[in-house]
Amino acid sequence: MRKPIIAGNWKMNKTASEAKAFAQAVATKIPSNDKVDSVVGSPALFLETLVSESKGTDLKVAAQNCYWENAGAFTGEISPAALADLGVQYVIIGHSERREYFHETDEEINKKAKAIFANGMLPILCCGESLETYEAEKTAEWIEGQITAGLADLSAEQVSSMVIAYEPIWAIGTGKSADATIADTICGVVRSTVEKLYGNDVASKVRIQYGGSVKPENIAEYMAKENVDGALVGGASLEADSFLALLDAVK
Ligand code: 13P
Repeated sequence: MRKPIIAGNWKMNKTASEAKAFAQAVATKIPSNDKVDSVVGSPALFLETLVSESKGTDLKVAAQNCYWENAGAFTGEISPAALADLGVQYVIIGHSERREYFHETDEEINKKAKAIFANGMLPILCCGESLETYEAEKTAEWIEGQITAGLADLSAEQVSSMVIAYEPIWAIGTGKSADATIADTICGVVRSTVEKLYGNDVASKVRIQYGGSVKPENIAEYMAKENVDGALVGGASLEADSFLALLDAVK
């Protein structure tokens, strides 16, 4: 049985005081991590606050990006070693916004995944197709390509422990979610790609999230699907009540 994992992705939202207020509002209400992994993905600026405010609770903290070197002359980048030292447990990598606006490649994303593991954290590796690819019915091969490149040279043990998020670009922030059957089918493509690369045991362990206009009202439909182990949520993770409602729907 795979444990569900619900992760908020705040993207570039909130100020330090808003992040602190959110953490204080949810801290005592996070469900037990026996049932669900509850994760909040914050801008790097607020990670320290979130880690300290969530001490002693089952809330886990994710960064939204990092570099693949631990230190050096890389102005403006985020060190994975420094993230691990802060107590960050997950790092979201390969989000479509980073691929599109910051021109991240599969090769760079793969280097980031290795650096995250080397520092004892876990990647949440995002994949997803454009509307054009979806309409051309090329989603499966696109996803297989992204996953194969993103996982290159990772060990079976690493892949078993990580999280992969399927987020169709056309469903992000549009209010137009992929229906649960589509989400299940493409999460199934992710799983069968992992199976081809690493075998059945690893494929049965890796956790796969759906993301794209998930909200408290529709999360249960996704979670009921065999290949969907959780959700990566943008807009509906920003308010404490809504974030808690997402967790409540699966606990
Ligand atoms: P929305 O939930 O706002 O559609 O965002 C999805 C997403 O990109 C999460 O990473």
